[in-house]
Amino acid sequence: MKIAIIGQGYVGLTISVFAAESFRVIGFDSNARIVSQLNNGISHIEGVENSTLQKWINDGQYRATTSGSDIADAEVVVIAVPTPLTRDRQPDLSFIQSACKTIGENIEKPALVINESTSFPGTLRKFIKPTIEKYSRNGVAHLYAISPERVDPGREDFNQKNTPRLYAGLTPEASVRTHDFYSKFCDQLVEVSSPEVAEAAKLFENTFRQVNIALVNEFAQIAHSLGISVYETLDAASTKPYGFMKFTPSAGVGGHCIPVDPTYLATVAEEHGAPATFIRRANEVNVQMSNYVVNRVQEDNGGSLSGKRVLVVGVAYKPNVADVRETSAELVIDHLRERGAVVSWHDDVVGTWNGESSAPLSGAEIAIVVTKHDDVKVRDILDGAPYVFDTTGKVPGAKGL
Ligand SMILES: NC(=O)c1ccc[n+]([C@@H]2O[C@H](COP(=O)([O-])OP(=O)(O)OC[C@H]3O[C@@H](n4cnc5c(N)ncnc54)[C@H](O)[C@@H]3O)[C@@H](O)[C@H]2O)c1
Repeated sequence: MKIAIIGQGYVGLTISVFAAESFRVIGFDSNARIVSQLNNGISHIEGVENSTLQKWINDGQYRATTSGSDIADAEVVVIAVPTPLTRDRQPDLSFIQSACKTIGENIEKPALVINESTSFPGTLRKFIKPTIEKYSRNGVAHLYAISPERVDPGREDFNQKNTPRLYAGLTPEASVRTHDFYSKFCDQLVEVSSPEVAEAAKLFENTFRQVNIALVNEFAQIAHSLGISVYETLDAASTKPYGFMKFTPSAGVGGHCIPVDPTYLATVAEEHGAPATFIRRANEVNVQMSNYVVNRVQEDNGGSLSGKRVLVVGVAYKPNVADVRETSAELVIDHLRERGAVVSWHDDVVGTWNGESSAPLSGAEIAIVVTKHDDVKVRDILDGAPYVFDTTGKVPGAKGL
């Protein structure tokens, strides 16, 4: 069976290499550079090894393409394209729209179309299906299903195989076919009664994280004002064996999901006249953490950062990945520069970013740890600058939240 996976990023490529064990996979991506790299056996995604990719290429189980005609005879099509926010922070379905156009114009026989991209309830039924039908020249009737992706890039204990997967078809036949497809490479499938439940569950999972992170970020500020350690307090609360889940404070939230997905839920809620005050407030708290951190650093350094050499340690949005999407390091750097600091950053996992390169760990007057990759040594951070402010809780001996 031939499978087409639209979008070869974190989600699409990860799915591709798992599906290649059982199916012939065509990885379609609009980015020609990525496609060429992939066909040369070079993965750009943490967790997808070059050797695995090369094996599937050699076995004829995987090939990447930018050409729509290569997916014409696919029996299953998986959509895994970005769902970001627009400049005015509204849901942006333009990538899904263009993926639907590719599918509509190219798939010649009835196929099962599964959406894995995160979006608000109703996206499959009211947007994806009609958009594909609009572009479909010969009026083929596809089956439609949703199976929101839960992959956590860089994570080793949970992957595509052992993370339970939600799914729902628009019709019973679509549900059965979706189950058959994923059961080849996923251990546990959980069917829900409608695509809208699956879509909402994905948004709620990430909203749960967003509001809890905001709560602990607010609590970090409370703990500091009370003169107690936020970490010791959280450890103490964590001894309760039920009814408590530990989240840790940070300079804010980053990545493609947590700062973005709750806004999809809030937007659809408000369109339906339901309140989304919690989500909106959580976003505000998380965004202002970067300013709070810079305020604390400024207070500790004589009330002014003007002309001070400040190093931001770690600009990826989380440890051990090179992903800088929505990273809170960007907000921290913006606040520092607004106050006249001379800012550089160190992150050898990211390497280059916004036209700048990773700087050495030593040589600044002030270091602010935003993300600590495992291979960055605590001793090197502490030795690198006379004043270190840690937002991660992983640099004992530094000032911090
Ligand atoms: N990254 C994660 O950890 C994660 C986890 C769960 C869910 N998701 C969701 O999965 C979806 C994909 O996210 P991602 O992180 O894989 O994105 P990504 O940016 O890593 O990859 C998306 C890929 O799609 C390609 N693309 C864009 N438009 C295209 C089009 N019209 N046709 C073909 N290719 C196109 C891009 O070139 C890119 O390679 C999003 O909805 C995201 O919210 C992501």
